[in-house]
Amino acid sequence: MNVHAPALAEPHRFDDAMSAFAGDVIGDLSKFPKKLSPKYFYDAKGSELFEQITVLPEYYPTRTELAILRERGGEIAGLIPQGAALVEFGAGATTKVRLLLERSRFAAYVPVDISGDFLNAQADGLRRDFPALDVHPVAADFTAPFALPAAVAGMPKVGFFPGSTLGNFEPQEAEAFLLSARKILGRGAQLILGVDLEKDERTLYDAYNDAAGVTARFNLNVLERINRELGGNFDLSGFIHRSVYNRDRHRIEMHLISRKAQRVRVLGHHFSFRPGESIHTENSYKYSLDRFTTLAQTSGWQVKESWTDEGRMFSVHALVASAE
Ligand code: AVI
Repeated sequence: MNVHAPALAEPHRFDDAMSAFAGDVIGDLSKFPKKLSPKYFYDAKGSELFEQITVLPEYYPTRTELAILRERGGEIAGLIPQGAALVEFGAGATTKVRLLLERSRFAAYVPVDISGDFLNAQADGLRRDFPALDVHPVAADFTAPFALPAAVAGMPKVGFFPGSTLGNFEPQEAEAFLLSARKILGRGAQLILGVDLEKDERTLYDAYNDAAGVTARFNLNVLERINRELGGNFDLSGFIHRSVYNRDRHRIEMHLISRKAQRVRVLGHHFSFRPGESIHTENSYKYSLDRFTTLAQTSGWQVKESWTDEGRMFSVHALVASAE
C-alpha cells in the first residue's frame, strides 16, 4: 500500500490530545535512534487490527489468558469479597471482564480508558447483561493518577489489568503503574493481572511476525495515522515491519525499517532516513514468574496466587496491596 497524504491546505486545528501526539512524534523522530510510542497504535483502524491480531493462530497470549480465566475463574472468584468494585485499567473487548463478572458478585464495575466513546458503548452492553451491576465509566489516562467515582468509595476494590499490557511498559513505567494502581485502589485492594511469559524464541518470533501480515499492517498503521492526523507524507511502501526478540532485555522489539534513503515531512519538520534505519515502535517485555514477583514486591503488592497454562506460555496473578 502506498499512502501519500496531501500537503496541508490549511493549518490543522489541534486539541490537547492532538498537540501531545504532534509533540511526541516530532520529538521522538528527532532522536537517534528514532522511535514512536506504542500508545499511538490505537486509533480506530489500529484497534481493529489489534482485535484481528488477538485471534491469529500465531498470537497465543489472548486465547491462553482467556483459557486461564475460564479454567481458574472459580478460584479467582473465591478470592474476591462480595460487593466489591471491579476497576479495569483500559477497556478493550469485554470478553475477559465478563468471565470475572459472571463468577463473582461485584457490586460495581469501573472501566477506565482514554476513549470515552468506546467506554460508553462497552458500558451499555454490560448494563444490559448484568442489570444488578452499577457501571461507572471513567474517561482518563490510566497511567496517570485519577479519582475513582464517589459511588464506589465504601466498597472493597479489585483492579483488573489483563492482556499483558504491562509488558508494553518499560520496567520503570511498569513499576510506576503498579505503584499508582496501589494508590488509586487503596488499602486492602487486590489486583488481577495478565503477564506474558518468557519462552522459546521461535514461538515469540512467530507471534509478532504472523504469516498473514496483520502485525505488519498494525505496525505500519502508525505511519498512516501520522499522515492522516498530522499531515505527514510517509510513503508506507518505503518501510518494512520487523520484530525481533532481544533475549538480554527479555523483550520483543518492533521496528519499522526504512528500505531506502528518504526524507519525510511532518508538520513542517523534515526527517532523514538512511537505508536500513529503524523507527523503534514497541517493546513487549516477557517476564519469568520470579522476575514478575520481584517487580510486584518492589511496587507495593504481594503475589497471592499465580496461574499458568500447561505450556507455561502466559500467567495470571492475583496480587494484594502490601501494608503501608
Ligand atoms: C497490547 N499488547 C499486549 C500487545 C503485545 O503483545 O505486546 C501489542 C502487540 N503488538 C504486536 N502484537 C501485539
